[in-house]
Amino acid sequence: MKIINICGARPNFMKIAPLMRAYKNHAQIEPMLIHTGQHYDKNMSDLFFKQLGIPEPDLNLEIGSASHAVQTAEIMKRFETVALEEKPDWVVVVGDVNSTIACALVATKLGIKVAHVEAGLRSFDRDMPEEINRVLTDTISDLLFVTEPSGLENLKNEGVCSDKVHFVGNVMIDTLRANFDKAQESNIVESLNLKTRGYNVVTLHRPSNVDDAETMGRITDVLDEIQKDLPTVFPMHPRTKHNLAKLGLADRLEAMSQLKIIEPVGYLDFLKLTGSAAVVLTDSGGIQEETTILGVWCLTLRENTERPVTIDQGTNTLVGTDPTRILEAYRKCRTKEVGEAKTPEKWDGKAAERIAEVLARTGN
Ligand code: UD1
Ligand code: UDP
Repeated sequence: MKIINICGARPNFMKIAPLMRAYKNHAQIEPMLIHTGQHYDKNMSDLFFKQLGIPEPDLNLEIGSASHAVQTAEIMKRFETVALEEKPDWVVVVGDVNSTIACALVATKLGIKVAHVEAGLRSFDRDMPEEINRVLTDTISDLLFVTEPSGLENLKNEGVCSDKVHFVGNVMIDTLRANFDKAQESNIVESLNLKTRGYNVVTLHRPSNVDDAETMGRITDVLDEIQKDLPTVFPMHPRTKHNLAKLGLADRLEAMSQLKIIEPVGYLDFLKLTGSAAVVLTDSGGIQEETTILGVWCLTLRENTERPVTIDQGTNTLVGTDPTRILEAYRKCRTKEVGEAKTPEKWDGKAAERIAEVLARTGN
């Protein structure tokens, strides 16, 4: 039973790592790993393979950066050749990036079965490229692996046959649990001269925030206020770095005395950094989930989330991009203890094992 597993962008690596491990318990599964090359900088890709013990990809399609259409089309062209040659029984795609939909679409048109890990999540915001990728990938997948109850509900409302859907938990959290102890050895907090719970972490990369001058201008104003309260560290995504320079905001951010902009950091350092923070301000999908498990306040600078369990049970609050709303929520976090962190159902570190079992049981 040959399974081609696809990864391409940073959040994919945390999701694919536990799957590659879990296949080892099933002798009939012959896994292959393909990296599309959507992300390629050392600290956006290679570092994660090393730290998470992901096997070297069998192939890197080396597609790199481009517009949505060009990037998606290039992945499709290159992956089709590979799929025709390898004739896998299954293609497993994770998350919601362009690599996810591109490879799922190629596979399904070749009559190869597709499994989607992290299916059913919906922000109901079609301005988000990821929402389009999610809806389309789910529509053409033969197996849908769901992380939280909202995913089950969404797929049911869309009329997806329940036989295809499996509530398995969250592979992102498998990786968090597998690496938590190792991450405690990181000295990133001291090396940045920070103190546990004495600083904030910021990550931003959503186009709706960082591609828009007015929105990013508002966020810059808020970050100025927030860094006056506590030192704030901002591991900056390459998209954001390029855009801030273009939007003319880089100098203002760099001039803030307690705001430290650093390069994106590896997984272990980032886990230690967020786990020891007072407040995390982000527009990332995965970080909303990680902070819920770490029991750290998360303020999500978006109007919606496809991960509502992190609000209902976790530490997450949607704050949009209005400065008053963000500051109000931030001040609340600074005066209130997080309390005992709740664990969403099946976020127990065994999601990948459940997925491998379903695949093995389903067969080719
Ligand atoms: C992509 C995903 C997004 C995900 C994010 C995770 C899509 C549509 N978007 O967004 O869902 O949340 O990854 O990080 O798939 N760049 C580099 N080096 C790299 C990678 C990117 O410099 O290694 C720069 C390039 O200028 C590139 C830009 O970042 O044009 C955007 O990269 P891209 O992969 O197109 O989208 P992301 O914003 O990273
Ligand atoms: N992450 C990391 N280093 C960083 C920023 C994020 O290792 O400097 C990790 C983070 O812990 C999470 C994942 O990257 O596991 C989230 O990826 P990202 O925010 O790029 O994408 P999204 O989840 O929004 O699709």
